[in-house]
Amino acid sequence: MTNYKVADESLAEKGKEALYLAESKMPVTAKVIRERFQKEKPLDGIIIAGCLHITKETGILARTLKAGGAEVYLCGSNPLSTQDDVAAALVQEGINVFAWHGNTDEEFYWCIRQCLNAKPNILIDDGADMIVTAHQEYEDLIKLGTIIACQEETTTGVKRFKAMEKKGVLKVPLFPVNDARCKNHFDNELGTGQGIVSAIYGMHVLFAGKSVVIAGYGHCSSGMALRARGLGANVTVTEVDPIKALQAKFAGFNVMPIAKALPTADIILTATGCKHVIAPTTEMFNLLKDGVILGNLGHFDIEIPTKELYEYAQEIKPIRSNVEELMFPDGKKVYLLAKGRLANLVLSEGHPSEVMDMSFGLQSLMSEYIIKNKTKLKPGMVDVPIDIDDKVGFLKLESMGVEMDTLTEEQYNYIHGYEAGT
Ligand SMILES: NC(=O)c1ccc[n+]([C@@H]2O[C@H](COP(=O)([O-])OP(=O)(O)OC[C@H]3O[C@@H](n4cnc5c(N)ncnc54)[C@H](O)[C@@H]3O)[C@@H](O)[C@H]2O)c1
Repeated sequence: MTNYKVADESLAEKGKEALYLAESKMPVTAKVIRERFQKEKPLDGIIIAGCLHITKETGILARTLKAGGAEVYLCGSNPLSTQDDVAAALVQEGINVFAWHGNTDEEFYWCIRQCLNAKPNILIDDGADMIVTAHQEYEDLIKLGTIIACQEETTTGVKRFKAMEKKGVLKVPLFPVNDARCKNHFDNELGTGQGIVSAIYGMHVLFAGKSVVIAGYGHCSSGMALRARGLGANVTVTEVDPIKALQAKFAGFNVMPIAKALPTADIILTATGCKHVIAPTTEMFNLLKDGVILGNLGHFDIEIPTKELYEYAQEIKPIRSNVEELMFPDGKKVYLLAKGRLANLVLSEGHPSEVMDMSFGLQSLMSEYIIKNKTKLKPGMVDVPIDIDDKVGFLKLESMGVEMDTLTEEQYNYIHGYEAGT
């Protein structure tokens, strides 16, 4: 029996179309790994719970895990990122889905609890909310060893787990899949980079000639800065890390504190994983230019001070789907995308399938690795093994028909030795 709660089951046909499109663009996850999983059933009898953005790409991951023999439970990792049509289609395939677009905080955690009530053996999280809830409310699942290990999909989640480990409260083996090269060099840089297009979807705005401020110059934000420049914008980067600020400067971007950048910015996009990148003060709000577009692509809705902006605004007018016009007391208008939540997932469909193929190829192989190595795993953070990271890289290259060189024995010994010199 499939357990579920989704917005509208009649959307399933539309969801199937979306999944069909993603299948062909995700050859590593949907073909190579899935075909082997189908034969070998490495996840037989295992329950996997994913707290992930419910997109067509997550649907492909769920299909592959199911093909490997797992029973799959899914809940959304953000209240606004669920694609209701995909959720409905997955239910028809026997995936247990508890997710709908626009759920409240209370409903969001109710969905997480439905997944944890299924007593999962592997948790795949995106932002840490499910695994933190397991630590707080489902101690038995950890103590009794029901949860064998966990995987984390995003930078903010990894940071939260590092903090838990430092405090000595992380009680499960945890693989920060986000930090694997095949994940953050592509998903974060290319996927989120292209996510600046969400501002175009939202307001149908031209980037060429605009002053665009990108907060951060990390994996996601450096990709966003590059792509905004590619569209002809005059790009300013704000940073708090001196090395990242230097990298941005030497890459040819303007670099300055956010307070100096605000008055001329036409579009401000954040992806830092930090809080209050624009300080929630009247003084800062007054620096914003009339008509500025504010969008966040970081995990939580606190990079742009959404709550405080709503409080400050005299009038809040939805002007189109997931875009609001906020009128300040002085009559100035600013445009907020996606209520300050992940604009690329809310206004668009999230990352293109091609990059998610690598992220979810990794998540699939890591689920298999966890089961194969379950007797050896200890609580704490463990890097994704390099051979699994490389394997996904090789598979992706192969699927694209790209060949590369391999080291000869002599070359291998040379770069791993010290004897040969001048
Ligand atoms: N929208 C998406 O689809 C998506 C995808 C992947 C990651 N993310 C999220 O995006 C955020 C960033 O992830 P990342 O992988 O780029 O992290 P990262 O650590 O590589 O980069 C973050 C950068 O922001 C800088 N920073 C921190 N606080 C700042 C501040 N107050 N002002 C300016 N710069 C600041 C840091 O110095 C760092 O260089 C995280 O919340 C992550 O979970 C979103």
